[in-house]
Amino acid sequence: MAKEATIDTLLEEERIFYPPEEFTRQANVKSKEIYAEARANPQLYWAMQAERLDWFRKWDRVLEWNPPFAKWFVGGKLNACYNCVDRHLKSWRRNKAAIIFEGEPGDSRVLTYWDLYREVTQFANVLKELGVGAGDRVAIYLPMIPELAIAMLACARIGAPHSIVFGGFSAEALRDRINDAGAKVLITADGGWRRGKIVSLKDNADAALSQTPTVEKVVVVRRTGQEVNMQEGRDLWYHELMAKAPVGCPAEELDSEHMLFILYTSGTTGKPKGVVHTTGGYLVGVSTTHHMVFDIKDSDVYWCTADIGWITGHSYVVYGPLANGTTTLMYEGAPDWPAQDRFWAIIEKYGVTVFYTAPTAIRAFMKWGRKWPAQHNLSTLRLLGTVGEPINPEAWMWYYENIGGGRCPIVDTWWQTETGMIMISPLPGITPLKPGSATVPLPGVEADVVDKEGNPVLLGEGGLLVIKEPWPAMLRTVYGDDQRYIETYWARFKDKGYYFAGDGAKRDYHNYYWILGRVDDVINVAGHRLSTMELESALVDHPWVAEAAVIGRSHEIKGQAVAAFVTLKARAFEELKAAKRSFKEIEGELKAHVAKKIGAIARPDDVFLTAELPKTRSGKIMRRLLRDIAEGRVLGDTTTLADPAVIAELKAKYEARE
Ligand code: PRX
Repeated sequence: MAKEATIDTLLEEERIFYPPEEFTRQANVKSKEIYAEARANPQLYWAMQAERLDWFRKWDRVLEWNPPFAKWFVGGKLNACYNCVDRHLKSWRRNKAAIIFEGEPGDSRVLTYWDLYREVTQFANVLKELGVGAGDRVAIYLPMIPELAIAMLACARIGAPHSIVFGGFSAEALRDRINDAGAKVLITADGGWRRGKIVSLKDNADAALSQTPTVEKVVVVRRTGQEVNMQEGRDLWYHELMAKAPVGCPAEELDSEHMLFILYTSGTTGKPKGVVHTTGGYLVGVSTTHHMVFDIKDSDVYWCTADIGWITGHSYVVYGPLANGTTTLMYEGAPDWPAQDRFWAIIEKYGVTVFYTAPTAIRAFMKWGRKWPAQHNLSTLRLLGTVGEPINPEAWMWYYENIGGGRCPIVDTWWQTETGMIMISPLPGITPLKPGSATVPLPGVEADVVDKEGNPVLLGEGGLLVIKEPWPAMLRTVYGDDQRYIETYWARFKDKGYYFAGDGAKRDYHNYYWILGRVDDVINVAGHRLSTMELESALVDHPWVAEAAVIGRSHEIKGQAVAAFVTLKARAFEELKAAKRSFKEIEGELKAHVAKKIGAIARPDDVFLTAELPKTRSGKIMRRLLRDIAEGRVLGDTTTLADPAVIAELKAKYEARE
């Protein structure tokens, strides 16, 4: 790779980093022919990839495509847990580290594949004892501890779809997700560690459980050790159940299309969508991409820093790596605890070779300074990855030089909860890299950038990112709502049969993709997807609030930050004024309210109280103009406004704020 690259040159988009020869020589994918092979016969290509799994029964047909409903590996039977655990017991991998766990307080645990087998089968037996069977949904609300992976795999073993709710979500968010999925059992913990403090998961769960009629039993893992409420007859300790549970439990022979999990994600409406993934196609997709994109070898210590509560954690902390027999690292806590070198200390301690994280984290590391990684030996690293949002070339360069020591390729991977697997990414042994570009679609993935009518745009022009052919790990539907599935992803380009990703993109003259961000009402805050509608309903739920408009404004570290413009009800305004409550206090309370309703990740950075919001004559709030204000730009077209004076005044007041 070019060694002379410096920060000064980073805005030259055209700089190219070629794969080092030594890397290519040992790479899992060494030749570009794979793209042409996949294109010539996509179904054959995916069938060949499916051979990497163990099937109880081979499929009769690779794909059944009744647009937009897909079935992959039809007639095939397999078990995801068997593929992630049991099959590795037949070889030397039996004694290999499957999961390396590092707790935030500094405790650690290594589970070999055999250890994992013991715990997973025991917990599968526990679930069965509790009356969970194939098809029953299990909600999981746990910190990043091995029991989270164990619980997922135990569910997969008996065919019970899991629905994992990120531990940072609030009680209300948990309640809504449990109820939408109709979960029978909830698995949680007393708490988790975050920056030395306890996140009280069980307290949140208790608040949620007062309104979740379908939950019969709650299993509680002891992690943080503080006193928690245990409801007689409903709540059971994990360690007590496990002490009595036998090792060994058959892995159900499940249909390829058996639902593996539901994962909720924000969309353009206030209600999160339950994205449904099934067994065969998903596992083929994630194991293939994990193998190719991360160039995984048996000798690797692989670390994806995502929380398992997000799709990245599902696909690339648990299912992909374990299906490939990889050693996967899990870290419980924050990157700056006890100090800002925690990640680098972990890499050094375990000799991590492949490291996958988010641009927002990289930007925070940049801010903390190169002195932190410089204190550690990072020479075991050989490959780096990023995911979740566009990476700015400056952050790419910093990552490349300070973490990768100028020798590790970076795979910038574009994908989504819905796609299940990485879709656009370099293959590190063969793809020349350009800082800031996710490069090209993977073999077997047909993408394009099109205009509103679905026609390809010219190279260099912006358009909408679409996927033109079904792929194995694609979502199958929105849980319980086929109509929403059709409308959200397929209605837009119905005639062409394209999947609409919700992202804007452009391609350069090398045909490289540059992802430009969301084109819908979804904002991406520190790599987390939030819906502006969901945030607005959380605000309007507060008794003082009359109306709220939420936008994502650009933010140095988080990519985007939540900015809310709020009008108060006249009565509330009078009362607050009479009570001498300051604007600052009111704004603080509204921020806290959103965090309580959705979770700390959704806490607005700014709440700005205003007398009026800019609206069109038909009453639509013009968020575009609010974005101009929040980002300090000249206002765009204001001719459709009902009253242009409103926006002028708002801008003046916003600029004059403290
Ligand atoms: O806007 C894109 C952005 O994240 C969205 C998907 O969010 P989520 O379903 O939460 O999954 C995140 C992790 C897979 C996309 O629509 N995104 C994801 N990866 C990238 C990205 N934007 C630019 N470059 C990426 N590499």
